[in-house]
Amino acid sequence: MTATQLIEKATKTINVFIADPLSDDGIFPLRQETELDLNIIVDTGLAPEQLIARIADVDVLLVRSQTTVTREVIEAAKNLKLIGRAGVGVDNIDLNAATEHGIIVVNAPDGNTNSAAEHTIAMMTSLARFIPQAFNTLKNGKWDRKSYVGVELKNKTLGVIGMGRIGAEVAYRAKGQRMDVIAYDPFLTEERAKELGITKGTVDEVCAAADFVTVHTPLLPETRNIINKERFAIMKDGVRIINCARGGIINEDDLYDAIVEGKVAGAALDVFVQEPATDHKLLTLPQVIATPHLGASTVEAQESVAVDVSNDIIKFFKTGTVTNP
Ligand code: NAD
Ligand code: MLT
Repeated sequence: MTATQLIEKATKTINVFIADPLSDDGIFPLRQETELDLNIIVDTGLAPEQLIARIADVDVLLVRSQTTVTREVIEAAKNLKLIGRAGVGVDNIDLNAATEHGIIVVNAPDGNTNSAAEHTIAMMTSLARFIPQAFNTLKNGKWDRKSYVGVELKNKTLGVIGMGRIGAEVAYRAKGQRMDVIAYDPFLTEERAKELGITKGTVDEVCAAADFVTVHTPLLPETRNIINKERFAIMKDGVRIINCARGGIINEDDLYDAIVEGKVAGAALDVFVQEPATDHKLLTLPQVIATPHLGASTVEAQESVAVDVSNDIIKFFKTGTVTNP
C-alpha cells in the first residue's frame, strides 16, 4: 500500500495511542496540531492483553521501551498505520509483522545520544571508584575507606564495540578523561578513527587491549553474545565491563562466571536480557553496579525523542513521508 493510500485509509479523526510514559513537553507538537484531527489517548502500563483489547481503532501507536509491540498487537490493530518509538532501539517492535501489515515504524535516533553517552561515562567512573557500593555502606552507618580503593581512568584503555552515535560520544568524552580508546565497528574507517583520535581494531584486538570494555551496538544476531566466555578469556585480568546498550550483547552467564572467577573486576549494567531485572543473579555480586535502564532518562532526552517522533507523525499524515523510518 502506498503512503497516499495509507493516508486515505485514515479516518477523519486520527487516534494516537500513547502506551508508555512520554514527556508532556515532548508531545506538545501533537497537542498543538490544528490541521489534523488528532485524538490523543494516554494509557500506560497496560498488560499485553489489555493493549490488544484497546488497539482495534488506533491509527498511531506511540511507545518507549516498556511496551512490546508483538505480532498479536499488530494483528489486532485493524487501523494502525504508524508505530512511533520514542528512542533508538526498535527491538521491542515486531518489525516483520509491521512490514507485512504495511505499518510504518519510526524512531528517534539522535534525541538521547548525549544522555546515553553521559550515563555510560557516569557508570564507568562509578565502577572505577566503587561509588554505589561505598555510598551504600555509608548509608548503612559504616565509614569504610579500606574496601573501596579504586583505579584511575587516566592512561587506561577504553575498548568500544560499536562506534555509532553513542559510541563516538563516549570515545570523545573518554579522551577528555585522558584515556586511550580502541574501537571496533564494521563501518569504522581509518579516516574516522583518526578524526576521533582513536585506534581501530578487531573485536579481539579491542578485547585484548582494553582495561574497560563498553558496548554500543544494537542487539542483532551478529552482536548477541559478542562478549562471551571466549572474549573474556582474551581480556586483561581485572578488566571492567560496561553495558548501556542492550541486554544480550554481553552474555550474562559468561559475565557472571568471569566475575566470580576474578577475571573481570567489575561490571556496570544499565540493561538486561529480561527487563525489569529485579531478581537477577548478576545483581547479587558486589562487583556489579546497575541502573534500571536509565541511559535515556533525562528531561532533555525524553523531551527530544518525543518531539522528534511527534513531528514525524504529523509529517506522515500531512505529506506521506517520514524523517526516521
Ligand atoms: P547507532 O546506530 O548510532 O550505532 C550503532 C553502531 O553499532 C553502528 O555504528 C553500527 O555500525 C555498529 N554495529 C553494528 N553491528 C556491529 C557489530 N557486529 N559489531 C560492532 N559494531 C556494530 O546507535 P546508537 O544510537 O549509538 O545506540 C547504540 C545502542 O545503545 C543501541 O543498542 C541502542 O538501542 C542503545 N541505547 C540505549 C539507551 C539506554 O537507555 N541504555 C539509550 C539510547 C540507546
Ligand atoms: C533507546 O533505545 O532509545 C533506549 O533504550 C532508551 C529508552 O527507550 O528508554
